[in-house]
Amino acid sequence: MSKLIYILNGPNLNLLGQREPEIYGYETLNDLAETCTKVASASGLSVKFLQSNFEGQLVDWIHEARHTAVGIIINPAAYSHTSIAIHDALKSFEGRTIEVHISNIHRRESFRHHSYVSLCVDGVIAGLGLHGYELAVESMSRLLD
Ligand code: DQA
Repeated sequence: MSKLIYILNGPNLNLLGQREPEIYGYETLNDLAETCTKVASASGLSVKFLQSNFEGQLVDWIHEARHTAVGIIINPAAYSHTSIAIHDALKSFEGRTIEVHISNIHRRESFRHHSYVSLCVDGVIAGLGLHGYELAVESMSRLLD
């Protein structure tokens, strides 16, 4: 049976392809989900790909993953910079964790430079566009080997 990973996406990422495409690209969240699912299945992983604009929903999915998944890839979007709740939830998760940002948050406004999530994940990928998700899935597969 293939191992399950969660790919969690935070607020406004439902607007991928429409919102600031010069920063976040022209692909939609559905396109991204499809690509991640393909890349994951080539590595023997199955994916639960989710997006929410609500902090508590992301926390609930992390709690759910504690019982069902071996890894979490998360783009917490703006909550990266504000959410101690997501930080604490991730600390309760015993599997492997990777944070992804489409843009290079360190080259943008100073309020994006700090991520509470980076303090508690195994790895961080930023600034490589949507390709960063594919890299995260491949890296997750290696971390799980
Ligand atoms: C983002 C970067 C965040 O600062 C921003 O709030 C987002 C997306 C990224 O993927 O580059 O919504 O996480």
